[in-house]
Amino acid sequence: MAIIINGKEIASDLCKKLSQKIEALKKKHNIFPCLKVILVGSNPASQVYVRNKQKKAESIGISSETIILPDNILEDELIAKINELNSDPSIHGILVQLPLPRHIKASRVINTVSVEKDVDGFHDENVGRLVKGEKNCLTPCTPKGSLHLIKLVESNLSGKNAVVIGRSNIVGKPMFHLLLQENCTVTILHSQSRNLAECCSKADIVVAAVGKPNFVQKDWIKKGAIVIDVGINSANVGGQAKLVGDVDFDGVKEKVKAITPVPGGVGPMTIALLMINTVIAACLQEKIDTSDFVDQSL
Ligand code: GUN
Repeated sequence: MAIIINGKEIASDLCKKLSQKIEALKKKHNIFPCLKVILVGSNPASQVYVRNKQKKAESIGISSETIILPDNILEDELIAKINELNSDPSIHGILVQLPLPRHIKASRVINTVSVEKDVDGFHDENVGRLVKGEKNCLTPCTPKGSLHLIKLVESNLSGKNAVVIGRSNIVGKPMFHLLLQENCTVTILHSQSRNLAECCSKADIVVAAVGKPNFVQKDWIKKGAIVIDVGINSANVGGQAKLVGDVDFDGVKEKVKAITPVPGGVGPMTIALLMINTVIAACLQEKIDTSDFVDQSL
């Protein structure tokens, strides 16, 4: 029987523990972690994600505000807003929800966020630190949360074959580097890759982040593999809109050692890791040792 990895419960436990650490940060150091989320426009999926982030932050003692800006805001106006947040020492984390409207250059926006407030870990300097395997950098939340789930099933990943499907800057590429740091042999598959099924069938770990419903099939997967489904897709199931992942869950679950469901797998972990990154960012800015406040396995 496969382990169905309960990301919702694991994320909730992480947040409960973190809320106690936040309490201690406030009492011992007079530091009140603060996260600002910027939402440009009215993308419905982004609105839901941003609302969930703010709700979770508030529930564990992180002060949080969502700044909603119009779709037609000028790039320079958005940059000015980020610079204002950068220079406010009471703000520890800044997140600009993606995607941005097409007239705005996302890379300029991402690189305007101060490196130490970049709770998404998307700034070029944080990406560079991740690639070099440096400790104490801000690392993208979804891959970090996914790795945590994998390591709860299998603590030593050394020498394992890992396949990441998808090469986005948000998930695929950082996931590659995190697995490499765990001494996995890592392959990235993408839209131009050949023999996807054959490559996957050799993998001990599969992380699917392609954004295609039920893309990964049972016959691609090795018996006893760990499968992490990052996909959040809307699909029509029996005439009703349902959230489904990138993996054919019902087929694949019969073969694997462990698998994440959608919803309730990776999604809640992304938010939990954002909370953890906000506390790390607060510690970095206030020159406090993160090890007192954040579990070092994260
Ligand atoms: N859009 C989809 N995922 C993410 C994320 O992790 N961070 C931000 N800022 N935007 C996203």
